[in-house]
Amino acid sequence: MAGMWRAALALIMVAGPAAAKETIMPAAKPIVIAHRGASGERPEHTLASYTLAIEQGADFIEPDLVMTKDGELVARHENNIADTTDVASHAEFKDRKTTKTIDGVKMTGWFTEDFTLAELKTLRAKERLPLLRRGNTQYDGQFEVPTLREVIALAKSAAVTRGRPVGIYPETKHPSYFASIGLPLEAKLLVELKAAGWDRADAPVFIQSFEVNNLKALSKQTKVRLIQLLDAEGGPADKAQPSYAAMITPAGLKEIATYAAGIGPAKVMVVTNDGAVTPLVADAHASGLKVHPWTFRAENFFLPAGLRSGINPAGHGRLEEEISRHLAAGVDGFFTDYPYHGVQARDRHSR
Ligand code: G3P
Ligand code: CA
Repeated sequence: MAGMWRAALALIMVAGPAAAKETIMPAAKPIVIAHRGASGERPEHTLASYTLAIEQGADFIEPDLVMTKDGELVARHENNIADTTDVASHAEFKDRKTTKTIDGVKMTGWFTEDFTLAELKTLRAKERLPLLRRGNTQYDGQFEVPTLREVIALAKSAAVTRGRPVGIYPETKHPSYFASIGLPLEAKLLVELKAAGWDRADAPVFIQSFEVNNLKALSKQTKVRLIQLLDAEGGPADKAQPSYAAMITPAGLKEIATYAAGIGPAKVMVVTNDGAVTPLVADAHASGLKVHPWTFRAENFFLPAGLRSGINPAGHGRLEEEISRHLAAGVDGFFTDYPYHGVQARDRHSR
């Protein structure tokens, strides 16, 4: 026994506390996933947003991933960067404005796949929801678009500084589309995870996707845990998939369990806006799947009517109460734009 402790101590002294702890995620407690960082309080998908989330105690930070023209993965919620960067004010990129159809939706803007990483790095992030999150606009123009590599480096260095695990929860965005233009996301993601030493089942990583085929393919290439995202309506963008409604039947969940470790459903699929608990958590657990619903936000605009405070859509209502309802329903973690409140609600529940 003394030898075992000596070995552990040696590991900590040589490699720092994170090397010893980074794979020991808090399995007993539901995990708090910082959705696009602490995006309620900083412009989403910036190192500042992720840093604040870690300071507030988030277990995981969530980068949504899209690709640049030169094959680098960057953190943006969509490849159209018109709403989350200052690209429109860059005269040198005026001629890059274009119209594309992505997953059946026609949109006009500027797209990451038309920019090199060096070009993207000249842009600065801005708040997506200035009417709901006016306070965040003070940070407009300050922060770069981060690469996945920078997000991983941040998580690793924060784990060392804080002496606790900090994981990443990347989402592949529009994977079929990116594959169709010759810029598949998955191979590069696996390269980056391998470079980080995070290509293992016990790495502090979950990979998520709303599509099915890329998760099925990933399940054959990596042991990193995979999460099937599910929406309350519609179905995956990749072809020949069942609807999300069919995927949450017991048979559908059993099928998901053949390639994924869990599901990430829209929050109303777990607890309805009237506060009723659906069978989803029990059914998913019966198939051995973890359940991580999204997305918990403080603004009245996003809360069920009974949890709002006042009538201002930007005002904050009873977010922690909403999270507590889901924790009582048995979820294993959750995505929130407000990790501070997420940690408060989780710790109260787990006491
Ligand atoms: O990934 C979980 C949740 O983030 C899915 O929604 O649109 O915010 O990426 P979205
Ligand atoms: Ca996401």
